[in-house]
Amino acid sequence: MTGLGPVAWPPAPIGTERLVLRESEARDRAAFIELFASPEVRTYLGGPRSREELEAAVPEVPGRRPGLFVVDLDGAMIGMITLDRRDAERPGHVRPDAGEAELGYVFLPEAWGRGYAAEGCAAALGWFAGALPGEPVVLCTQTANDRSMRLAAKLGFTEVERFEEYGAEQWFGVWSMVTASR
Ligand SMILES: CC(C)(COP(=O)(O)OP(=O)(O)OC[C@H]1O[C@@H](n2cnc3c(N)ncnc32)[C@H](O)[C@@H]1OP(=O)(O)O)[C@@H](O)C(=O)NCCC(=O)NCCS
Repeated sequence: MTGLGPVAWPPAPIGTERLVLRESEARDRAAFIELFASPEVRTYLGGPRSREELEAAVPEVPGRRPGLFVVDLDGAMIGMITLDRRDAERPGHVRPDAGEAELGYVFLPEAWGRGYAAEGCAAALGWFAGALPGEPVVLCTQTANDRSMRLAAKLGFTEVERFEEYGAEQWFGVWSMVTASR
């Protein structure tokens, strides 16, 4: 499922202490390609895609859709944060009608280890809680993805279940403003 539902998009750029979350622009194209081509970034996401294929496929202004935030540090894209509706066919749900909002995050390796992902995701979750009050957000990550597991815990996601998908163990968790602020 795509589209976040009844939210005004794009919101005004969201500023944090060090970052800005904003809609994508043409100048972000190289960073988008890097995120999909990087073996490091794609370790737990199905592996890297070829640069040639990406150069041909990625549009002039990539990633323009509701729920996709470019994370900007001093005017340059360092990663992206997504909030999408989770497919009903996939395992892992917290609502009987499925279609939960799901958080995703990918950052360029040179931006890892500085707390940028945590800072950006906290802001995206705060925006979501304001836009759709009371709605939970879910997250699914391979248990082998240590950095992602640490980030999920730091953001206040709590485990719902674990299951096998794509040949690996997945951790499935949920966040809501109410439980996160406890
Ligand atoms: C998952 C991912 C976003 C995590 O990035 P990250 O930079 O490790 O996450 P954080 O923003 O929480 O940063 C945490 C680190 O910053 C350090 N840090 C440094 N300065 C900091 C500051 N000012 N504030 C907070 N943390 C800081 C923390 O100590 C921590 O270090 P550690 O990793 O050595 O424990 C990143 O690894 C990534 O893009 N991976 C590839 C994509 C992917 O697998 N995504 C998951 C899909 S489900």
